Amino acid sequence: MRLRGQEIRAPLSSFTMDDRVAVRVKIAETPGEWTGLVAVRLAVFCDEQGVPISAELDEHDRNAVHALAVLPSDGAVPEGLAPARQGTAVRASAQAGRYLPLSLAGARGGHRDDGAVARAIGGARLLRRPNGVAQIGRVAVLPAWRGTGLGVRLVRLLEELALARGYRESVLHAQVPVRAFYERLGYVVDPGTTPFDEDGIPHVRMKKTLSLEM
Ligand SMILES: CC(C)(COP(=O)(O)OP(=O)(O)OC[C@H]1O[C@@H](n2cnc3c(N)ncnc32)[C@H](O)[C@@H]1OP(=O)(O)O)[C@@H](O)C(=O)NCCC(=O)NCCS
Repeated sequence: MRLRGQEIRAPLSSFTMDDRVAVRVKIAETPGEWTGLVAVRLAVFCDEQGVPISAELDEHDRNAVHALAVLPSDGAVPEGLAPARQGTAVRASAQAGRYLPLSLAGARGGHRDDGAVARAIGGARLLRRPNGVAQIGRVAVLPAWRGTGLGVRLVRLLEELALARGYRESVLHAQVPVRAFYERLGYVVDPGTTPFDEDGIPHVRMKKTLSLEM
């Protein structure tokens, strides 16, 4: 891939290893993967944090690029590290079709691709904003998989994609308690902004200049 004559060496898909299982971080390519992402978001933002479904899934999902962390299809998942529970997957299947990203409309496979749905364990989305600005959001990792580097991998993948598409700045609304997570990724609080409420959770606007040296 080339950007203004320079090569971006980082691949747009990568693997994260912990001591138990290899997890792939990739751009969602099928309706089943999208449903898996919805299952992760329902589990994390709705069930865990209390955000209503009506606020969690929105029209922006249709135009967004979605990244997901997914377990390998051929690997056994160690006991105690099961991905989205069956009940969440069923609810996700019921919701996913309403917000299917346009980029996946012609893709093969259905929403109820159980393999893809059950293997999703994390996700994030990228939105286009005016003036060369990208917005990253809905960063979520299922509780059992936190602290293994997946959150960082998801954000970095979307930053690489944004850079390759010509965006020069990434902005996001960080939940105040996880501000340090984004600082670790090089984000700073946007000067002149103050914390605000979003779905009952305090947020702060953060930003980062995108460059090949990220
Ligand atoms: C925030 C979240 C996405 C982080 O994902 P994760 O996979 O656990 O994060 P990583 O393992 O990639 O952590 C990367 C670094 O950020 C730090 N970090 C992770 N979560 C953090 C938190 N809640 N607060 C402060 N620092 C955090 C880690 O300590 C780690 O630092 P280190 O490498 O120096 O040890 C995950 O905790 C989550 O899904 N939380 C619930 C949903 C949420 O709040 N999303 C953010 C919406 S703005």
